[in-house]
Amino acid sequence: MKQITDFTIIRRQQLGESYFSLTLRHPGLLPPIAAGQFVEVEVCNSREVLLRRPISIHDVDSQNQTLSLLIQTVGKGTRRLADLREGDTLNLVYPLGRGFAVAGANPLLVGGGAGIAPLLYLAKCYREKGIRPTILLGGRTEALIPVREEFEAIGATGCATEDGSLGEKGLVTQHSLFNLGYDHICTCGPTPMMKAVGRHALAKGIPCEVSLENMMACGIGACLCCVTDTDQGHKCVCKEGPVFDVARLTKWLSI
Ligand SMILES: Cc1cc2nc3c(=O)[nH]c(=O)nc-3n(C[C@H](O)[C@H](O)[C@H](O)COP(=O)(O)OP(=O)(O)OC[C@H]3O[C@@H](n4cnc5c(N)ncnc54)[C@H](O)[C@@H]3O)c2cc1C
Ligand code: FES
Repeated sequence: MKQITDFTIIRRQQLGESYFSLTLRHPGLLPPIAAGQFVEVEVCNSREVLLRRPISIHDVDSQNQTLSLLIQTVGKGTRRLADLREGDTLNLVYPLGRGFAVAGANPLLVGGGAGIAPLLYLAKCYREKGIRPTILLGGRTEALIPVREEFEAIGATGCATEDGSLGEKGLVTQHSLFNLGYDHICTCGPTPMMKAVGRHALAKGIPCEVSLENMMACGIGACLCCVTDTDQGHKCVCKEGPVFDVARLTKWLSI
């Protein structure tokens, strides 16, 4: 059930130069939230930024009734959000979209850049089921792979950086943990990375879910600005996704 709610920022952490996280609480109880769902964040006090911005739910703490967002500062909206401080209010529409299935007994989670964000709560959902996922995080440099310690506490975690500043040098798909007989793969990050992971999964016959990050406006299936061409026709990524079975995206994979 979607809600429009004012949250209070109870914690703000700067994570290197370009990332920050916000932990949020509101007086009521959180609704059920699936890993991979997202929020639409209102960017207040900005004439330049009229539309809400889609941000994945990074973590949920049901004991303390908080949720967290991990945000990369890339443009005018996220720069405004980066100015927020503890005690400030943030209005969210949430939880939106369809999340991951949390399937498989030996899953691999592959994240790149800000696509790492939804994978932490996903990893925790696997842990709740008694499953230790393998996690691969990729970025151009070490500074672009935030919060890896939190993943390391959950499952075997490997990092791949293009400049070799952290983990193995190269792409996540070249990492020694990448091709080890998993029975399910989940991925979120830059489109070329997700396509490479998806093609590998299809070729190996491994079920694979990708979380698409198309540009969005309304976030609720009304404006049609986020459609993607699936094997069942055009689908709104905000409503039918953002998580899709890669077997439904063979046209997307081939572009
Ligand atoms: C379902 C979903 C979940 C997302 N989750 C996260 C998250 O957890 N953390 C996070 O940091 N980011 C996430 N994003 C991306 C985030 O929404 C954009 O970075 C943000 O909207 C940019 O707003 P801006 O005003 O700062 O940038 P703008 O000034 O609007 O644009 C700055 C640059 O960012 C690019 N950009 C804008 N929107 C997107 C987008 N949707 N995807 C990719 N590039 C974009 C623009 O092309 C431009 O190059 C997610 C996107 C989607 C669709
Ligand atoms: S963002 Fe409006 S339909 Fe998806």
